[in-house]
Amino acid sequence: MTYKSMPKVELHTHIEGCAPPAFIRGLAKEKSLDISGIFNADGTYAYRDFDHFLEVYEAACTTLQGPQDFYRLTKAILEESASHGVVYQETFISPDFCGGGDVTAWREYLDAIQMAADEADRDLGITLKCVATCVRHFGSDKAKAAAKCAAETKGDFVTGFGMGGAENFGTPTDFAYAYDMAREAGLELTCHAGEWGGPEMIAATLRDLKVTRIGHGVDAIKDPALMRQIIDADVVLEVCPGSNVFLQATGGWSEHPIQRLRDAGVKVTVSTDDPPFFGTTMTNEFDMLSQTFGWGEEDFKGVNETALAAAFCDDATRSKIA
Ligand code: ADE
Ligand code: ZN
Repeated sequence: MTYKSMPKVELHTHIEGCAPPAFIRGLAKEKSLDISGIFNADGTYAYRDFDHFLEVYEAACTTLQGPQDFYRLTKAILEESASHGVVYQETFISPDFCGGGDVTAWREYLDAIQMAADEADRDLGITLKCVATCVRHFGSDKAKAAAKCAAETKGDFVTGFGMGGAENFGTPTDFAYAYDMAREAGLELTCHAGEWGGPEMIAATLRDLKVTRIGHGVDAIKDPALMRQIIDADVVLEVCPGSNVFLQATGGWSEHPIQRLRDAGVKVTVSTDDPPFFGTTMTNEFDMLSQTFGWGEEDFKGVNETALAAAFCDDATRSKIA
């Protein structure tokens, strides 16, 4: 039994992290860049642990050098997602990798990405929205520049602001200015927390950045009072089980906290994060949840409804998808 053809709503992907290794190798060849060290002999991405994953990720990003590369990447990603039944996807896009924080350049990248998204919507029936994101270990000045880019392009396509990267870098307050700027522009807010940083990082992120969604958030399972707070505040977790298992942020599938979080009443959604880096797809996520925890059609419908309700889009988009 596979859930491949079931419609899916996915809230947490990183555009560069969705690039297949062959796609990145192709760009490297075109540009005569030697990044052979980031691949295993079988062609997959090669890294030892999360810190090394971030290094390999950034090395892969050096091949993405202009709006046209992101147009091609977006086309490839949405074709793959649609083949796994994804009907609505949100992706993190970083101004740092798209123009280096310059607003004029960022607009050009966004135009190219949006052109690919419009074509995929028309041809494949998949809707894409963007969460402009800063990279935590690039520091708070870069985060402010990213928030400025996000604020200036806030609209029907760029609907949210977020932060990924090394969770142990700095504290949430370091990024409060950037988040305040994004909030004042009317962007919706999420932040990676509790993938590595424990329940304390989730609590500090909710307090200082006032987000409505948390990227990962699986460490909430370690603190019942925090789980209660998350439930009461109607915060939604963007859980990426395959990513957590692969990176060893949690134990294996049977120990993954998504089941216990859900049983406790926490709103959970399911995403792939960076699928080719973790050997996963949305079909694999659904199938593994079915095999591990016995989730069936009704459970997945519930997860999709939770995700659509928490999606950073307007109600017109929501009714088009539902
Ligand atoms: N950037 C890309 N994938 C990430 C992850 N799983 N955690 C933090 N930052 C990321
Ligand atoms: Zn992520």
